Amino acid sequence: MKTCIIYHTRFGNNAALAEKLNELLLERGDVVSMHQMSDSKPSAIPEAELYIVGAPTQIGTLPLKASRFLKRLNPPEGSRYAVFFTHAEAESDVPEKVASIMEGNGAVSAAESLSISVKDLKGPLQDDWENRLKDWIGLL
Ligand SMILES: Cc1cc2nc3c(=O)[nH]c(=O)nc-3n(C[C@H](O)[C@H](O)[C@H](O)COP(=O)(O)O)c2cc1C
Repeated sequence: MKTCIIYHTRFGNNAALAEKLNELLLERGDVVSMHQMSDSKPSAIPEAELYIVGAPTQIGTLPLKASRFLKRLNPPEGSRYAVFFTHAEAESDVPEKVASIMEGNGAVSAAESLSISVKDLKGPLQDDWENRLKDWIGLL
């Protein structure tokens, strides 16, 4: 499957998730490209069958930079998306925000979002994140 990982990060937690995801998807035979939003442009994101979007929760929601980036994507018809996100508190509307943007762009949900908590405000990730990521990939 042609898969594109697009993520936003400030403290590196979503980068760690994206890198492990990249490794696991390559192992299963996907053709993967990985893009950090701050180092890329929406116009540089290649066409894919599956877009995996990762982002942190900041002030309860999706960071504005991520929202602006995702709104400018133009996924091909029939493409799917999935969301992983991190948070320090229980409440986050990141998966709903990303879903709304990606569906507005014409993509269809591939799976339930993956919610990973951080142990402190800036990380690290909860202890079982690698196993949870592996289980989640089985759904995609
Ligand atoms: C200024 C700031 C605001 C934050 N606001 C929230 C928040 O409202 N809700 C929450 O669950 N986590 C919040 N966090 C924790 C972040 O979600 C956590 O640092 C993030 O998931 C780490 O992802 P990253 O390392 O990829 O940037 C906040 C962190 C910072 C530094």
